[in-house]
Amino acid sequence: MVKGGLALKRIGVVTSGGDAPGMNAAIRAVARAAYCAGVDALGFEHGWDGLIHNRARSLGPREVGGILELGGTVLQTCRCPQFKDVASQKKAAETLAANKVDGLVVIGGDGSFRGALALSKLTPAKIVGIPATIDNDVYGTDETIGFDTAINTAIGDIDKIRDTAVSLDRVFIVEVMGRQRGFLAAMIGLTVGAELILVPEVPYSVAGVINAIREHEASGKRSGIIVAAEGVGGAREIAEAIERDLGLEARISILGYAQRGGNPTARSRYLACEFGNHAVDLLLGGSGGRAVVLRDGRVTDISLEESCSGTKELDLELLTMARCLSR
Ligand code: ADP
Ligand code: F6P
Repeated sequence: MVKGGLALKRIGVVTSGGDAPGMNAAIRAVARAAYCAGVDALGFEHGWDGLIHNRARSLGPREVGGILELGGTVLQTCRCPQFKDVASQKKAAETLAANKVDGLVVIGGDGSFRGALALSKLTPAKIVGIPATIDNDVYGTDETIGFDTAINTAIGDIDKIRDTAVSLDRVFIVEVMGRQRGFLAAMIGLTVGAELILVPEVPYSVAGVINAIREHEASGKRSGIIVAAEGVGGAREIAEAIERDLGLEARISILGYAQRGGNPTARSRYLACEFGNHAVDLLLGGSGGRAVVLRDGRVTDISLEESCSGTKELDLELLTMARCLSR
């Protein structure tokens, strides 16, 4: 397929880092968009490890049937610290050459984008990143594939926790994922009506937590939900202070890995279709070193360099609004 002067013959696709619901929809979109353009698609298995050890399989239109709705990634993924070594990156570049891959789509989070940027400097193949992580912490995009699904999984669990909190006049500290960022905690907290949201970006004190819960008590509340990002820590200390200083029963619930799985929501599937299609369009047009992003509702792209060099800001107004709406 010649478009924009580049005779693209084979597109590789890899899922890397933490799996996210919607990754399979993105794999499908890349493979089908390539097929529609008359270009081969090749999937590399187990993230960067599959590129280092040349573990690949064809991704024709039938091989990506029935995966749109599945969580996880049919190509599997991995955490592959050795990919930070240039020697491993060179092996991956050799794998791309050996398989005659002239365009590679990397589906993953910020760490995977850093790996993609490093690899792009060692191969003539054009590389494009698709942001897919439940953390939503990739710089340059308003939203990542999987973020919406993780939020919906968490609010389903927390709505259930709210039932027992109200029934027993308890305060629950619910820990959610997000590594060292608060994007998940902020949106989950807002959409479950949490009485308090704790994120790594905003320092907190146990005394401040006690005062916040005391304010809710003063307005007649006898139970509450505190949503805490896992990067905050201190749940045990907070629970003990609530019991000691407020005389309320407190419990801790860690939502954990359920947030990483499940059938992707329509939103996550939509982003996957749009991002996968845009990524193939970029490669067909001869572009590489790009990150597909969502900006103000529009699918576009920025350089991988820019995406890897920036730090995404958390909108603290969300926390202010959540605090008011939970009074
Ligand atoms: P995510 O992509 O979900 O953020 P990771 O942070 O684990 O997940 O990154 C995915 C993989 O990308 C890592 O396991 C590692 O193999 C690779 N990687 C991460 N950072 C770099 C880097 N600075 N240079 C090269 N490869 C990296
Ligand atoms: O990056 C996604 C994520 O789920 C984070 O929210 C979480 O802290 C991390 O992965 C857990 O990493 P692992 O799956 O390697 O235990």
